[in-house]
Amino acid sequence: MIERITFDGPVILGAGLAGLSAALAAKTALVLSPTPLATGCSSAWAQGGLAAALAGDDTPSLHAADTIAAGAGLCDGEAVALLTREGPAAVRALAAIGAPFDRKADGDFVLSLEAAHSKARVARVGGDGAGAAIMAAVVAAVRAAPSIDVRENARARRLLQDATGRIVGLIAEIDGALVEVRSHAVILATGGVGGLYAVTTTPTQVRGEGLGLAALAGAEIADPEFVQFHPTAIDIGRDPAPLATEALRGEGSILRNTPLSKDEGGRAFMADYHPAKELAPRDVVARAIHAERAAGRGAFLDATTAVGSHFPHEFPAVFEACQSAGVDPRREMIPVVPAVHYHMGGVATDLDGRASLPGLYAAGECASTGVQGANRLASNSLLEAAVFGARAGRAAATEGETGGEAVSLAPLPDLPDEAFQALRKAMSRDAGVIRDAAGLARLQAEIAALEAAHGPCPPLVAARLIVDAALARQESRGGHYRADFPEKTAPVRTFVTLDPVQAGLRHAAE
Ligand code: SIN
Repeated sequence: MIERITFDGPVILGAGLAGLSAALAAKTALVLSPTPLATGCSSAWAQGGLAAALAGDDTPSLHAADTIAAGAGLCDGEAVALLTREGPAAVRALAAIGAPFDRKADGDFVLSLEAAHSKARVARVGGDGAGAAIMAAVVAAVRAAPSIDVRENARARRLLQDATGRIVGLIAEIDGALVEVRSHAVILATGGVGGLYAVTTTPTQVRGEGLGLAALAGAEIADPEFVQFHPTAIDIGRDPAPLATEALRGEGSILRNTPLSKDEGGRAFMADYHPAKELAPRDVVARAIHAERAAGRGAFLDATTAVGSHFPHEFPAVFEACQSAGVDPRREMIPVVPAVHYHMGGVATDLDGRASLPGLYAAGECASTGVQGANRLASNSLLEAAVFGARAGRAAATEGETGGEAVSLAPLPDLPDEAFQALRKAMSRDAGVIRDAAGLARLQAEIAALEAAHGPCPPLVAARLIVDAALARQESRGGHYRADFPEKTAPVRTFVTLDPVQAGLRHAAE
């Protein structure tokens, strides 16, 4: 017999900005976090900030137009309008609970320019420290909230469903013990899929858990093939790879090849790829760096002139990462590599975070409202987490139905570390910046073999969703580039639902 908890409020899986925004909005919530709060989530590692139309010469509709242009034809217009309209209030709300955004002498937000934005509109903290500082403020608010219960060292092992398919809670592993948690609503806020890849800027424990759990329960998944690669992770052999924020290019840093001699700076190559050079859309810059590296010419970010001696106080996190590998970015170029940074796809939801199964919600990176299209605009992710996290929390708090008894309490299998590391290597090799049918088919077979050996582990299911959709999409769009289908076809989103019996989750007799 496992312990059973019945919680009168939403249970939230994940404690990044989306999960904790949902908890604060719901007021009464149980938050399950795999790690101590403010660690182990991508939000806390974000270097950029929140994009919002806060400047006098900016408007939500200009922000929306940039978001839609970056999204390469797949953004949901209503979701984008909502995000950009609610953006300024979301930034102010975070400031009101103590997020220490950089300010000018007159108190206005300092706003930075990032790639593919037509205006400087990114509210930052301490140069490159937005994620950590915002999460510190949000965690303090959660700790002070009397009706938010937080369990750390807790993760989900299965979503629970009654005979109608309604989500009625989950099986959690809390401090190593299995617990049946019953609740009217479950909100998935487990982040993205970076950990499924060998080269990522996100914590490695962020490995598509929510996506896999939801898919195995039969929830609709949207656009899983759209994975965003950040062009400039710092290539110093660390796993995960530290980020060199896009703001460095916003300040004028240049991408160059390996210098041919000691006295030469290396050739600036971005003009070969796009008229906007270093400020071209993120997918274009990532492919350019990938191509330069593949051709043996190397890729480095040169901030020696644009930032130079200001580096330590303007970009302290990047400075520290460089220094840890003996690179002094005031005088030397930073070696860079594209790395998985964000997942545009996720659990399909409406604008209040409702997934296709009653009782199930999703928010932040593990959700897909359609707001990020095929390619997310820089600094729209923390904004999405704050806006849609709060909306999901408010909606889930009003969920009234209890549902029936759970049909199965068996936890899903765990993926052994050796198999997980093999998966990561294979994903980076074949579902990376450039994909083709041969590589994707080879990867599909490897994932099928891992599933045959280890069963329906959520990270394997998440990987399979990405790869199947990448193989099916015979075109190139946004973050998804097929060497064998380099052109765009019609702008059609992917929606997919797994059959739980075929997925190996339920036996036909169950
Ligand atoms: C960055 O600072 O380059 C990352 C910002 C983002 O991914 O939104």
